[in-house]
Amino acid sequence: MKYVIEHFGKVFKWHLIEYEHISNLVGKENLIFTNTSSKQLVPFGKVEKKSVAELGISDVCILDPAAGQTLSPEDCRRFKYLVFGGILGDYPPRERTKELLSCRMPKIEKRNLGKEQMPTDNAVYAAKLIAGGKLFEDIKFIDTIEIGIEKGLSVELPFRYVEVNGKPLISEKLVEFLKKRRAI
Ligand SMILES: C[S@@+](CC[C@H](N)C(=O)[O-])C[C@H]1O[C@@H](n2cnc3c(N)ncnc32)[C@H](O)[C@@H]1O
Repeated sequence: MKYVIEHFGKVFKWHLIEYEHISNLVGKENLIFTNTSSKQLVPFGKVEKKSVAELGISDVCILDPAAGQTLSPEDCRRFKYLVFGGILGDYPPRERTKELLSCRMPKIEKRNLGKEQMPTDNAVYAAKLIAGGKLFEDIKFIDTIEIGIEKGLSVELPFRYVEVNGKPLISEKLVEFLKKRRAI
């Protein structure tokens, strides 16, 4: 399975941290960044200036929380490319995947990973579990997490995370980044 991140706009530090995490989760050789020519992404996967819509690839599925059907292991046997929005979470969610990806590619199939919004790295990891044969219903999630910044100060992330060994899946680099950002 190839995982495609259709990026939009500038590459911020938060993107870089999430994209590095995705690369570690699925392997650099299985990751493609589209709609960007950022050299900063080269260490993490293939970088393609064209949008995924212009690549002429088939067996593609867009992962969109607004899709009517949930991704299944059978789907993953048919699809070769799973496409995710390189869109940072917004709260409350504004259906930006639908607006930026799904509506622009009406002929491409779409699937959800439940209705709750996950960070892109967690959405990719949930899809990878499903591609590996796991049913969506059998994946454990944690909704809304709190990251301790310093004594008496924490930041709430109002998104859904995959539970791994009893903890939400979040990169250590992102936790450090959040701590530093708050400390400034
Ligand atoms: C942080 S989410 C952005 C979601 C955006 N705010 C929206 O409402 O569509 C980044 C990407 O992860 C994927 N994603 C996150 N949660 C998902 C879900 N529940 N179902 C399917 N895809 C999801 C989508 O590809 C999405 O573009």
